[in-house]
Amino acid sequence: IVVDWDALTAEKGGYDHFMLKEIHEQPKAYRDTMRGRIKEERSGIKLPELKHVSASKLRAIRNVHIVACGTAYHAGLVGRTLIEQCAGLPVETDVASEYRYRSPIITPETLVIVVSQSGETADTLAALREAKRCGATVLAITNVVGSSVAREADDTVVTWAGPEIAVASTKAYTSQLVAFMLLSLYMAESLGTKEEAWIQEQLAAMEALPEQVERILEQADELKRVAEDMAQHDHMFFIGRGLDYAVALEGSLKLKEISYIHSEAYAAGELKHGTLALIEEGIPVVALITQSALVEKMVSNIKEVKARGGVVYAITDEANAPAVQKAVDGMFVLPTTLPRLAPALSVVPMQLIAYYASLARGNDVDKPRNLAKSVTVE
Ligand code: G6P
Repeated sequence: IVVDWDALTAEKGGYDHFMLKEIHEQPKAYRDTMRGRIKEERSGIKLPELKHVSASKLRAIRNVHIVACGTAYHAGLVGRTLIEQCAGLPVETDVASEYRYRSPIITPETLVIVVSQSGETADTLAALREAKRCGATVLAITNVVGSSVAREADDTVVTWAGPEIAVASTKAYTSQLVAFMLLSLYMAESLGTKEEAWIQEQLAAMEALPEQVERILEQADELKRVAEDMAQHDHMFFIGRGLDYAVALEGSLKLKEISYIHSEAYAAGELKHGTLALIEEGIPVVALITQSALVEKMVSNIKEVKARGGVVYAITDEANAPAVQKAVDGMFVLPTTLPRLAPALSVVPMQLIAYYASLARGNDVDKPRNLAKSVTVE
């Protein structure tokens, strides 16, 4: 008998890398983060862990700050739009290492949401302490029960992604998106800002996400081929508008972290104010197009890129694909969801592109150079 499994291979569940395993665990992470938190008949959200952030407390809140680092910051950018849409409150998202130094307006009527997979990031913890010092209510979104962030916050919403080993965060990010979806609906319900039918529609679409991610994962070979072409280049761009821009930032970070390809994410409408000068023959550009209201403007930005020789690969959905197809060189079509939930799907092809580009370049996917899983210095 030949046993070609060792302990490490077993830990990776048969996958070549922890990152690939964790990408494939996302449908489960979505289900686990939603489990027990949706009321019967999808009539609302159950978050009994919120003792301080109660409905009456929320009515007194005047502004929301979201503070985090790295990938968690990118989840916070999506969270900003979700909460603004639902709660009708002004929301700002800051990088934790900058937050304290810009003298933010934090009062006892501010809700500060800190997001941290590990719950131990020094900058995030320092921002949390500053928020508490100013009398704000602090809510943590973390993947680690009993972490420093969870212990020091007033309330904690746990993401049930399970342990994340690869330095490049995947399932922690997507479960943070689910936490923001739940939290924003909880706020809508508590503040009475949305009809019950609207909340039901959101929840039904959220419950469909795990199976939709599974369908995306089945098409990994197509993304591998695309990533292998991209891996030949030293520079790339990611563009999008609205929520697609927030996800473009995460796609670009993932690629940089593990493939070491220099990439930049740009708000598509901002390209013409400078960055277009860098687009030259053959430069790969990933365009995210899931927000139907913005599709025409995206197509016109793509034409600007194509006119300068850029090679555009679109990540779009079934609804927008017909409008996009003729304008691009290739595209990946996502299952259709509600526009505000699209980040939960559109990030998955970008995680796979980063993974396969890193592999093609012969890098150590799970342990990229110079990076740590958790950064406990400021
Ligand atoms: C490090 C990791 C990133 C992570 C960031 C924030 O830089 O390499 O993947 O997004 O820290 O970590 P946290 O645990 O606070 O979410």
